[in-house]
Amino acid sequence: MIKPNTLVMLVSEKDKTYFRVVKEEGSLNTNEGMIEYRQILESNFGQQISTHLGKTFYLLKPTLYDLVKSVKRKTQIIYPKEIGYILLKLDIGPGKKVIEAGTGSGALTTALAFMVGEEGKVYSYEKRENFSQLAQENLKRANLQHRVEFFNQDIAEGFLQQDVDALFLDVRTPWDYLEHIFKAVKPGAPLGFLLPTTNQVITLLTHLENGPFYPPEVVEILLRRYKPVPERFRPQDQMVAHTGFLVFSRYIEKK
Ligand SMILES: C[S@@+](CC[C@H](N)C(=O)[O-])C[C@H]1O[C@@H](n2cnc3c(N)ncnc32)[C@H](O)[C@@H]1O
Repeated sequence: MIKPNTLVMLVSEKDKTYFRVVKEEGSLNTNEGMIEYRQILESNFGQQISTHLGKTFYLLKPTLYDLVKSVKRKTQIIYPKEIGYILLKLDIGPGKKVIEAGTGSGALTTALAFMVGEEGKVYSYEKRENFSQLAQENLKRANLQHRVEFFNQDIAEGFLQQDVDALFLDVRTPWDYLEHIFKAVKPGAPLGFLLPTTNQVITLLTHLENGPFYPPEVVEILLRRYKPVPERFRPQDQMVAHTGFLVFSRYIEKK
């Protein structure tokens, strides 16, 4: 049975998805009919539920992938294909403290908050108040907002934390803020950057070369999807050709 105040995901046979924190009373209205919250609370994850019009929905616990994919967005977001690698490279796990900027719509924030657990913390900086607000709503919907401290602030002013375990920048000119990184992270801390153009990558590499940084890694992650039809198994006709380049390094303290 599902407990009240649990975040659930309902997916129709037409692949329309709804997220809800289920209360003791109330209902979900869909284009294919209504589902009472009571029906959800009396069910288990992995089961089917029918609307009052007899349409079938799958009741599922949202995965981190589902949460990231479904953030309401007003900015470009970082996609799951990049996020998976970012989490590994930054060594994000329970208890870790991590800084990110800009928050944007909060897609990466969602993944970081999910991974740091109840003991960890995400410090998320965003200069535009409307984006910071949107991200906070997205984190609230995922029930992860308490793991994040949001700062509606330009990182040109620096970071307020010290000794954090990792840092990620998704801003247009990250090289402008490298000097602030040294004061905020532990020596040896993994650092990551997302940049949409090669020009930006080259400028960043030039700056990293002249600073106290571990030799950088630059990657681009391509995801090729396949049509899951056994009789005609082949790649999908179209594919997202480019999202961004990832640059990773580490801060090395000078003696
Ligand atoms: C592409 S979006 C970030 C998307 C986010 N990583 C996500 O996954 O949803 C870039 C954000 O950086 C913010 N930004 C740019 N420069 C900044 C700065 N100097 N300080 C704080 N935020 C900044 C922008 O306002 C924008 O919202």
